[in-house]
Parts: sequence; structure tokens; C-alpha cells
Amino acid sequence: MEIVIRDDAAAVHALAADIVERCVVAGDHLGGPVLGLATGSTPLGVYRELGRRHREEGLSFARARAFLLDEYVGLPTAHPQSYRSVIRDEFAALVDIDPTAIDGPDGEAEDVPAESARYDRAIAEAGGIDVQLLGIGTDGHIGFNEPGSSLVSRTRVKTLTEQTRRDSARFFDSAEDVPHHVMTQGLGTIGEARHLVLLALGAGKADAVAAAVEGPVSAFCPASVIQLHPRVTVVIDEAAAAGLQLADYYRYAAAHKPSWQGW
Ligand code: GLP
Repeated sequence: MEIVIRDDAAAVHALAADIVERCVVAGDHLGGPVLGLATGSTPLGVYRELGRRHREEGLSFARARAFLLDEYVGLPTAHPQSYRSVIRDEFAALVDIDPTAIDGPDGEAEDVPAESARYDRAIAEAGGIDVQLLGIGTDGHIGFNEPGSSLVSRTRVKTLTEQTRRDSARFFDSAEDVPHHVMTQGLGTIGEARHLVLLALGAGKADAVAAAVEGPVSAFCPASVIQLHPRVTVVIDEAAAAGLQLADYYRYAAAHKPSWQGW
């Protein structure tokens, strides 16, 4: 894992945008880049920065495909807080990606297990995800893989913890409106992406980040599964790094990053 501690949110977003840009440019020469997109508030600044690079620097997503991490079950796709709507409004509207090249679990599907299996197949048929952006929940979830999730799980339905429903309430009119059920890429599905980029901002994420990066690999903290992946970049601000025992070493390693080694 490469753990990068940046001064503020803007610097975190800029580095994540650099990683996505490198993937998009490299992927253009191959079969087209395949991006894994996260929702929640943390990655939104990355999408805004990519939108700026598209407008001002000509970064093109015309050949890109994208897969969402997760989706609420039972929320109409047209609802403004469905993750398909969020990605359409907060990412696709800012760049030139083909909206039909964005896939996500269908939260309105009648047969959730069949839709989950379709989704894993669609990712595999696209050749797998090149760069997967991830946020982290305060209870250590990634995607919507709540504590207790199998470390080799596939896309499936999950029941949100009360803590996650409370954390998500700010996006809805009332806490009761937050769905109980979701469909999420499993931890095994996420682990098949070639590069994982986990972002976290603010003191509220410090405990979850410490558990994910320095704690035991355990279903108790689903994000800790990133420790088993060969290529992970954790990009966090100072506040989110507050619980890390080896923060000084991570800063030292970043300061001495080999000049030939890119992101
Ligand atoms: C939701 C999403 C996660 C996201 C998390 C944190 O649970 N399913 O993908 O990481 O929220 O959200 P935020 O970045 O707003 O703290």
C-alpha cells in the first residue's frame, strides 16, 4: 500500500484526479479505460477536478466505461439520491463520457440475486476495472460492505447498519427515507480491480482509516481487505490520518518516493 497524507481536501482530490487521468490516457491506447466510481461526498471533488481538466485541458473520457460501486435497493433510479442519478449529475454531466457506458446495479430489479450476478459478469466482460475509487464509511465499510462482509464476497444485497443510515440521512429529507437495503460490489469484486484508490477526509474517518490500514485484516473492518491487494493508494488529509501510528513513516516514504515511480 502507498499511503499519501496531503494537507487538505483539494490536494487529496488533485492526486486522485492525477491517478484517474493517467488511467484514462493510458487506457485510450488500449481497449478504452474502465473506471470504478464511488459515491458519497468524498470523491465529488475528484469529479469536479476531472471536469475542469476536461473543459480546460481537453482530457477526454469519450472511450471510457464506468461501473458504480453500489446502489440503494428499492429507490427509484430517477430519485436524485439514487447513485445512478448522483454519478450522472456529479460526474457524467461534467465530462464527455457516453452515459450509456456507465453501468450500476439496478436497484429496481425484481430479482436482486440475478441482477447482482449480471453486474459481476458485466464488469468481467468489460475486462475488469482499471482504477477503482473508494471512500470509507465511519464503520469501515467500502462500497456498502458493512462489518461482517465476507472478504471474498461478490455483488449482492446488504442491510445497512443504523450508523450508515444515520450517516446517509443528510442526503435525504429525513432519516426514515434512507433505504435499509443496498446492492454493492462485494469485497472480492472490488479486489479484482487493478488499482484501488481509497480516499478519506476529516477527523470523523480517522478511526476507520487506522483500522483499515494498520488494523488486522478482518470482516469487522471490511476496508482492511485492501491490505490483501497488490496495488493500493490511500490518499487522506491530515485529519483523517490522525489515528495512524506510522504516519511519520508514510510522510517520509512519500518524500523519498523514487523519481521513476509514478502513481
Ligand atoms: C456510502 C457509500 C460509500 C462511501 C460512504 C462514505 O456508504 N456507499 O461508497 O464511501 O458513503 O461517504 P462520504 O464520503 O460521504 O463520507
